Amino acid sequence: ERSSNVQTRPPVVTIMGHVDHGKTSLLDKIRETKVAPGEAGGITQHIGAYHVKTERGVITFLDTPGHAAFTAMRSRGAQATDIVILVVAADDGMMPQTEEAIDHARASGTPIIVAINKMDKSTADPDRVLNELTTKEVVTEEWGGDVPLAKISAKTGEGIDELLELVNLQAELMELEAPTEGAAQGVVIESRLEKGRGAVASVLVKKGTLNQGDLVLAGEFYGKVRAMTDETGQRVKSAGPSIPVEILGLPDTPAAGSEFLVVSDEKKAREVAEFRANREREQLLERQNKMRLESMFEQMGQDDLSFLNIILKTDVRGTLEALLAALNELSTDEVKVKVISSGVGPIAESDVTLAESSEAVLLGFNVRADNAAKRKADEAGIDIRYYSVIYGLIDDVKAAMSGMLS
Ligand code: GTP
Ligand code: MG
Ligand code: NA
Repeated sequence: ERSSNVQTRPPVVTIMGHVDHGKTSLLDKIRETKVAPGEAGGITQHIGAYHVKTERGVITFLDTPGHAAFTAMRSRGAQATDIVILVVAADDGMMPQTEEAIDHARASGTPIIVAINKMDKSTADPDRVLNELTTKEVVTEEWGGDVPLAKISAKTGEGIDELLELVNLQAELMELEAPTEGAAQGVVIESRLEKGRGAVASVLVKKGTLNQGDLVLAGEFYGKVRAMTDETGQRVKSAGPSIPVEILGLPDTPAAGSEFLVVSDEKKAREVAEFRANREREQLLERQNKMRLESMFEQMGQDDLSFLNIILKTDVRGTLEALLAALNELSTDEVKVKVISSGVGPIAESDVTLAESSEAVLLGFNVRADNAAKRKADEAGIDIRYYSVIYGLIDDVKAAMSGMLS
């Protein structure tokens, strides 16, 4: 690419911090929207991507969950970004996921801007928070360090203009640039299956311009971009560097965090996609074999070991990965949790059949069973359990595990 093609691009800013410290509320205030009040359980459960126009130009924001179960998403959020806004509630202070967010930002080499939130509360104690942050070597300008600081309230809007100003200053210092022409490249933020629309991938363009009609290779899938929308659902024809869009046209849901690129040669795209799909299948088989062997050995040594088999379907890929990681950690010396099958999309008849033959618990997260699956479940007397908050599902699995012991 010629250098004349390289232009200043908007900063990508990831909002991180402990659960309920006000990340989504801050973005709501900036965007004049109301996402936070509508969230199941009052928690964010996948990464959201938004862009806003400020007086000095566009800023793209990634909202991340603060709940402990979403470590992988936070790590991805910190990797896909230029700047981290670390939100810390002034009445709560530095908490475990505050510390984790600092570690992710450090690991990815991303500069931090501290936003002390909930300054409107009578119990706000910003000095205590700033002091706590110094123990993680986050020393704000007020304390003689070089980490920019804004004291804000996502409720009243106090301090938010100053925060955006700090973001713009930091972005200018970083001289963020990218080629605007040529085949687009970027990262998949999240993906899901939608009834009537098929796979919907939320992507962030890093270089070049993504156009409707482009042939996109993402993870182990490829397809022509049939339609693109911005985060508000408005149709768009193209998206340049740092701009998030939702694309339709992939045959299935690529993993959150996978790279995407526009290719011109359909045959090549198919070859690469098939190669990756085969590799995925091989890795899956390997994992399954390993699990089988492990459980065989474990059973040989211990007669009183029980297994809780689980089949899990979710609405989005990122949540699936978060749930798999959380379930993986639940196994004890007495009860092993085994996810024998999982995927994105509604619960299908084949899931029920598998649940029946493997005596598995069938769990749906933000998805329902289709009609054939419902019929089959009724006939077979299989109980399908539905959830919309991650800890509801985890708590039930824990309860099922202790039920197996009594
Ligand atoms: P997770 O995504 O679940 O980690 O939470 P979050 O960090 O996005 O927090 P969220 O925006 O969901 O806010 C949590 C609670 O704090 C909600 O009840 C908000 O109304 C409240 N809240 C957020 N910001 C402020 C603030 O500046 N002042 C006050 N008083 N309440 C706030
Ligand atoms: Mg949130
Ligand atoms: Na919340």
